[in-house]
Amino acid sequence: MALLFSYSEKLTSYYSTILVLIIIVGVWAGEASAGNFYQEVDVTWGDGRGKIIENGNLITLSLDKASGSGFQSKKQYLYGRFDMKIKLVPGNSAGTVTAYYLRSEGSSWDEIDFEFLGNVSGQPYIVHTNIYVAGQGNREQQFYLWFDPTADFHTYSFLWNPARIVFYVDGRPIREFKNMEANGAPYPKKQPMRVYASLWNGEDWATRGGLVKTDWTKAPFTASFRDYKPNGCVWTNAASWCCQNSAPWLSEALDSGNQKMLRWVQKNYMIYNYCTDKKRFPQGLPKECTVPTTKPK
Ligand SMILES: *[C@@H]1O[C@H](CO)[C@@H](O)[C@H](O)[C@H]1NC(C)=O
Repeated sequence: MALLFSYSEKLTSYYSTILVLIIIVGVWAGEASAGNFYQEVDVTWGDGRGKIIENGNLITLSLDKASGSGFQSKKQYLYGRFDMKIKLVPGNSAGTVTAYYLRSEGSSWDEIDFEFLGNVSGQPYIVHTNIYVAGQGNREQQFYLWFDPTADFHTYSFLWNPARIVFYVDGRPIREFKNMEANGAPYPKKQPMRVYASLWNGEDWATRGGLVKTDWTKAPFTASFRDYKPNGCVWTNAASWCCQNSAPWLSEALDSGNQKMLRWVQKNYMIYNYCTDKKRFPQGLPKECTVPTTKPK
């Protein structure tokens, strides 16, 4: 009897140890699965130059003279907030373009872009942003950064909802594109998009407008990605679109603190804005650039 008792007692403690282990492993797996690259993305091109490593927590993309590389999300989204930490190509990155963007399919696609244009050592990257609606872009804004984007990871985010698109760098809004359909401007709101990232050779354009070419003696060039957070409305097919009305990003806007930050970035770091480029649009600025005229009472 005593033997049996102590045996079952041992058994109980054995099972409770296993239970605790299961709970620990469960919690750990739950955390790891938030944005795990194995689950969320496919490396789609680059013939081995794009690598998912560190148990799915890190992706490195590389570029050499033969090819760049890239990955894309398995899921499609209609609206969301997408965060990614990126460490850009260090050293002489002239000619290289690291891209992080949202894009729909087809010839009449919508697209929301971050493109990081490399530079010679010690000279600043340009953060190039653009928005395409129905295959039509030409909505560029460009910025310098207030830090060295090659020294460490920084968070780059898109917010995309029915009212606005906001580009954020480390949580600071750098660009807001409002839905100005009331003013006759197109807005991306029908086509689901995938999240993409790539590293490619843009030497004809990227650095000082193409004057500085890629120095292939420095290849391969490498950019790294981690902490991917796709908080979006997942698109499964046109008939079933899962998005709770309560999803915070659907109604996210810029509060007064954010608007102040946006003005600070635009005043100090913006280097190009298509909305003020009158020479480029002799027929008049695009409709989203002009404030709607409200009739005086
Ligand atoms: C590279 O550095 C030059 C010189 O400082 C600067 O004019 C340019 O905007 C920088 N960035 C790119 C991507 O050309």
